[in-house]
Amino acid sequence: MNQEQWGVFVEEAGKVHVVELLPEVRKVKGLGVLDAHKLLSPINIGEQVLVGQKVLTRLPMRLPEMSKGMLRRAQTISAKDAGFITSRLGIGSGDRILEAGIGSGGLSMYIARSLGTSGIHVTVEPRSEHAEVGLENLRRAKESWVGFPSHHHIEGTIEETVEQITEHSEAYEAIILDLPEHQTAIEAVAHLLSLGGRIACYCPVTSQLEHAWKACESQGLEIEWAGELMEREWGMASKGGVRPVNGPFGHTAFLLVAQRKA
Ligand SMILES: C[S@@+](CC[C@H](N)C(=O)[O-])C[C@H]1O[C@@H](n2cnc3c(N)ncnc32)[C@H](O)[C@@H]1O
Repeated sequence: MNQEQWGVFVEEAGKVHVVELLPEVRKVKGLGVLDAHKLLSPINIGEQVLVGQKVLTRLPMRLPEMSKGMLRRAQTISAKDAGFITSRLGIGSGDRILEAGIGSGGLSMYIARSLGTSGIHVTVEPRSEHAEVGLENLRRAKESWVGFPSHHHIEGTIEETVEQITEHSEAYEAIILDLPEHQTAIEAVAHLLSLGGRIACYCPVTSQLEHAWKACESQGLEIEWAGELMEREWGMASKGGVRPVNGPFGHTAFLLVAQRKA
């Protein structure tokens, strides 16, 4: 019997279930009432199991599956933008990262994965109902992955918790802001950026981008990049050939990256 605490099970249509394999009969969202430990723990990676009418395949607890199967409340940052943010900010082991707000923890999982087994990840969030979801997603990740950074969560707005933030580190290699009011947040924490460190602002609308831009400049940061990423999926056409799939061409957010150079 598998001793893992969590399992990822994927439906044929692609829907992902991240299940805690507890030894008790309980309701598992999307799968019904079952003893997850008894029914699902014996299933090995790559094997299938029938749960109700659903054929599920067990896969490893990797970031793409955990992200697809995450709990959601606040709007999340997905792979397209998270990949850009983690790479443009150069996030890697040993870094100190400040993130606000945690929301559903979508971006937090990418940050934690990029940090690997070392580094400091500080998250800030004023709304407890959002933090609850974000922290639960991080708990799954921490209990499933080999190694995890040192994570600290602070309740409150980023503007009012600067003192608590500095208790974990006096300086940060990267700061990521996904919140409605960038200007006051930038003014509150820009001084915490280490020399060479970068800040990323996730701005769903253009007015936020403009305010973030001006606030970064007024704090002595140099704008390195601003814009938006467009993603167009391709698929196999029914009559042969590969072409862009039909469907909406969505917008997520405008992104801004600024650096402290002096
Ligand atoms: C869109 S959500 C973040 C989603 C998150 N990036 C994710 O991928 O799941 C924005 C969050 O910022 C929080 N927020 C709003 N104002 C804030 C502030 N001044 N400081 C910190 N967090 C704030 C909100 O409560 C909300 O949960």
